[in-house]
Amino acid sequence: MNFGLNGKVAIVTGGSSGIGRATAVAFAQTGASVVVAARRVQEGEETVRLAKDAGGEALFVQTDVTKAADVEALVGKTLEAFGRLDCAFNNAGIGKFIPLTERSEEEWDAETNVNLKAVWLCLKYQIPAMLETGTGAIVNMASIGGAVIGTSNFSAYEATKAGVIGLTRSAAIEYAGQGIRINAVSPGVIATEILSIFSEDRLQQVSNAVPLKRIGEAAEVANAVIWLCSDAASYITGHNLVIDGGFTVR
Ligand SMILES: NC(=O)c1ccc[n+]([C@@H]2O[C@H](COP(=O)([O-])OP(=O)(O)OC[C@H]3O[C@@H](n4cnc5c(N)ncnc54)[C@H](OP(=O)(O)O)[C@@H]3O)[C@@H](O)[C@H]2O)c1
Repeated sequence: MNFGLNGKVAIVTGGSSGIGRATAVAFAQTGASVVVAARRVQEGEETVRLAKDAGGEALFVQTDVTKAADVEALVGKTLEAFGRLDCAFNNAGIGKFIPLTERSEEEWDAETNVNLKAVWLCLKYQIPAMLETGTGAIVNMASIGGAVIGTSNFSAYEATKAGVIGLTRSAAIEYAGQGIRINAVSPGVIATEILSIFSEDRLQQVSNAVPLKRIGEAAEVANAVIWLCSDAASYITGHNLVIDGGFTVR
């Protein structure tokens, strides 16, 4: 399908694996140039290779999204390489199951820094670049965990994902009048490395509880992100799109 993204420029954070990698490749398939941001160099470069194979221009910029200087440099290198910024998928995230009262301050800070503070940092530096052209579309990564439902032992992760929804709504309203659309996606359980936090038994239980009777694929989240970034979603901003095979409405 032609999403009108040919020639556009996109940043994908957390692009070294999972949903971020699938989305970087999906952007490349539309003809967009994609900048892959993450900490792991080899894995990030592998995403670049896959994106180029898919037909787009691609560049890896090693980035720790919790550091303002890294995020500022990421946007700067994107503008240097491709001259503009049209789309961004702020996807990097981490999560650990730890009982609330046993969680250390360091563990709380680690998750909130990557999952929430870094999304704000990305918006802070991406939005001015988009204002240069007066147009742009951003998608922030949330999760059904926190944004829609609660799960025990997952307090920091779910607090951050609920926070991403609030941040997305506020940013969407703030920049709606200046040509920038900002939305969130909330996947259910998707087959990626992050699922190593679940036992096999738990994964089977979750799979059985999904009305579509399976765990989702990273490419199925990527497709939704591409659509939200495209003009096909031109009247959608401040929205949280749930991608969970019907799990939260069963
Ligand atoms: N899979 C699911 O079931 C599911 C469901 C709902 C939401 N999500 C969300 O989807 C997002 C992607 O997760 P995934 O499932 O694709 O898992 P994943 O394969 O583990 O991807 C996580 C990505 O985040 C990056 N990352 C982590 N810390 C970072 C940092 N400080 N700076 C830059 N990048 C960082 C990792 O890259 P480096 O390690 O190379 O830095 C990696 O590319 C996360 O936000 C997650 O919460 C996943």
